[in-house]
Amino acid sequence: MKKRKGLHLIAYLLGVAMLLTAFTFCGKQAEKKLEIFSWWTAGGEAEGLAEMFKIYSNENPGIEIVNATVAGGAGENAKAVLASRMQGGNPPDSFQVHAGHELIDSWVAAGKMEPIDFIFSNIMESYPKGVIDIISSKGHIYSVPVNIHRANVLWYNKKLFKKYGLKAPDSLDEFFTVAQKLKAKGVTPLALGDKGIWSSVQLLETVLIAKLGANGYKGLWTGDTAWDSAGVKDAIKTFIKILGYANNNHNALEWDGAAQLVIDGKCAMTVMGDWAEGYFKAKNLTPDVDFGWAPSPGTKGTFDALSDTFGLPIGAPHRANAVKWLMVCASKEGQDAFNPKKGSIPSRIDGDKSLYDVYLQSAMADFSANDIVPSLAHGAAASPSWLTMISDAVTLLVTEKNADKADASFVDAAKKSLKM
Ligand code: GAL
Repeated sequence: MKKRKGLHLIAYLLGVAMLLTAFTFCGKQAEKKLEIFSWWTAGGEAEGLAEMFKIYSNENPGIEIVNATVAGGAGENAKAVLASRMQGGNPPDSFQVHAGHELIDSWVAAGKMEPIDFIFSNIMESYPKGVIDIISSKGHIYSVPVNIHRANVLWYNKKLFKKYGLKAPDSLDEFFTVAQKLKAKGVTPLALGDKGIWSSVQLLETVLIAKLGANGYKGLWTGDTAWDSAGVKDAIKTFIKILGYANNNHNALEWDGAAQLVIDGKCAMTVMGDWAEGYFKAKNLTPDVDFGWAPSPGTKGTFDALSDTFGLPIGAPHRANAVKWLMVCASKEGQDAFNPKKGSIPSRIDGDKSLYDVYLQSAMADFSANDIVPSLAHGAAASPSWLTMISDAVTLLVTEKNADKADASFVDAAKKSLKM
């Protein structure tokens, strides 16, 4: 008898617990909220995101958007916060993640994302196949790409270049000639902000592209190009030489701080992804008047690409609202409102060109004509663990300037990551 009563009590308690869980779950789902997680806090990127929020709110009045941002370029801080939330079973409704290895080798591989093929059912032909490929795994699509960014761009202060009769350098040799002339005039040639080491990783990746060419660079990620080849060694040495022309306080600044040095005329150039264009415009600068651009030295004809995407984590607290968000991200209207401010081009092929400025139109033309290579620093080329190993080696390289030691670490990282 006693035993029975005990069993009844357990069953009763279990029932109450299940009901409570169900209520909390339904309660969250019914809440009129949407939490979007990203690292877009700087000029240009914050404005772009706000444009998509505007569209969402017009289409879904009454849903409160929680703009959950963690500052720090390339997600240098956001990614760790996201990881602890995901591991703790507390995902946001949707989060920013780069297309390619960053998405597929981490959250998809861990079984933490919902496939979202249904979002694409009627709009598949609006996306390039190459883009769909890098957001897919085992035949399913896992995120919505809102843009395409270019990482290999050299930005320069047009007034300074005019004042000193300079022309944007095409090759690395020309870069050093221009840099020397600027130095002689007392102007710091290159602005760098590698408080987050990714900025230096990205600079190195552009030099690798210049020295190895598009195919040689792509081969680094498949094992076809050896990390101890002459081209890689040359790139590392050249990278060290470039650092000699950068601002002394580079490790105290973020990428936008470096872009600001160019605006202020304290430095003449910076090599940065085209989110810098969004930053310049947010500071009221006009493309081709106040600032100019060129492919980073030696990379003409190659487009070093990455894409920001948003996915649907399993257990998104407001799943229905998150699906509506993904629809905005996937729409032509959403992308055409976001990208002109962000400094990126739409990932859809049907963007309205007339809404994009002269730089972005040139990026669109290059994206369709150039060789496309995946960015290392922004999750497209290598798995997150490989990128971490390279980044650690670059941190030492920037301070110690020891090319052989860095190359040995790169070789080791490739061995571990390609399982050679
Ligand atoms: C990149 C991201 C860009 C931009 C940049 C600086 O990783 O793809 O959208 O935000 O970081 O934060």
